[in-house]
Amino acid sequence: MSNATIPAAGQSVRFWEQQWLWWHRIAPPLRPAAQDIETLVRLIAQWCDTRGCERPAALLLGVTPEIASMHWPEGTRLVAVDRSKGMIENIWPRDAIEGAQVLSGEWGALPIAAGSCDIVTGDGCFSQLPYPQGYDDLARELARVLSRGGLFAMRAFVRPEPSESMQELLLEMNAGRIRSFHAFKWRLNMALQPDTATGVRLNDIWAAFMDLFGDPTSLAAQTNWPFADVETIHAYRNMEARYTYPTLSELRGELSARFTEIACEFPDYEMGERCPTLLFEAR
Ligand SMILES: C[S@@+](CC[C@H](N)C(=O)[O-])C[C@H]1O[C@@H](n2cnc3c(N)ncnc32)[C@H](O)[C@@H]1O
Repeated sequence: MSNATIPAAGQSVRFWEQQWLWWHRIAPPLRPAAQDIETLVRLIAQWCDTRGCERPAALLLGVTPEIASMHWPEGTRLVAVDRSKGMIENIWPRDAIEGAQVLSGEWGALPIAAGSCDIVTGDGCFSQLPYPQGYDDLARELARVLSRGGLFAMRAFVRPEPSESMQELLLEMNAGRIRSFHAFKWRLNMALQPDTATGVRLNDIWAAFMDLFGDPTSLAAQTNWPFADVETIHAYRNMEARYTYPTLSELRGELSARFTEIACEFPDYEMGERCPTLLFEAR
């Protein structure tokens, strides 16, 4: 990654219009692992079988390539919606399932007709939104576009209850118990979030990292994590965007008025206890 792709101080850039440049450096748990995709494929197939849903109309929130090109039920008609031109142009995969379309749009006002979707899915979408208003807006929009009894299936990022403190996280790191920088970064983000309504500003994560470790080179040397992974912290520099990490009960609370939960599965990879795939049916 050249310095040209790291925003200079004071430069205001919409996060995802830069983030696609780092995409190939980002790995699970931030992106779905093979196990998450197997889970999603299996749960969607089972749901279609038991509900007698054929040739489903499916909506993908975002352009997650692993989901766009996964094994969907036969005849699935897939539409994806994302607000970022950079992500649509550069990350939407060439091998998306046959006939798949991608639209530019906001999840809070989807360019999709009411009651027209059998399935909505996505990866980690709630963490992109302010809590609780953005969660509520998305839940309302999903209830609008889904048919009655339609399926909403999504991997979510949830923080432990109580949250892990910075002190606990650094003890784990110094003891060599965190295997990848990606898992460490996600835990750092969660530990720095004071509460879900405040979320955590990406530039504040970058500043906290620089205070703790200085240049990524020293942390890479100390931990044996690849420098190319540790350097991805620079994607957060000068970014005003905030991530939010709810507890599982906060997330469930935002959906419970409109949806019935039918499954919740946890993967067995590092930090999998914070990355459940949840299934809900629209009431
Ligand atoms: C799906 S999310 C999270 C990334 C995820 N872990 C993955 O691997 O796909 C990332 C995408 O969400 C899009 N996005 C975030 N907030 C959005 C919103 N309110 N409306 C539409 N797209 C949004 C971003 O542009 C980005 O392409």
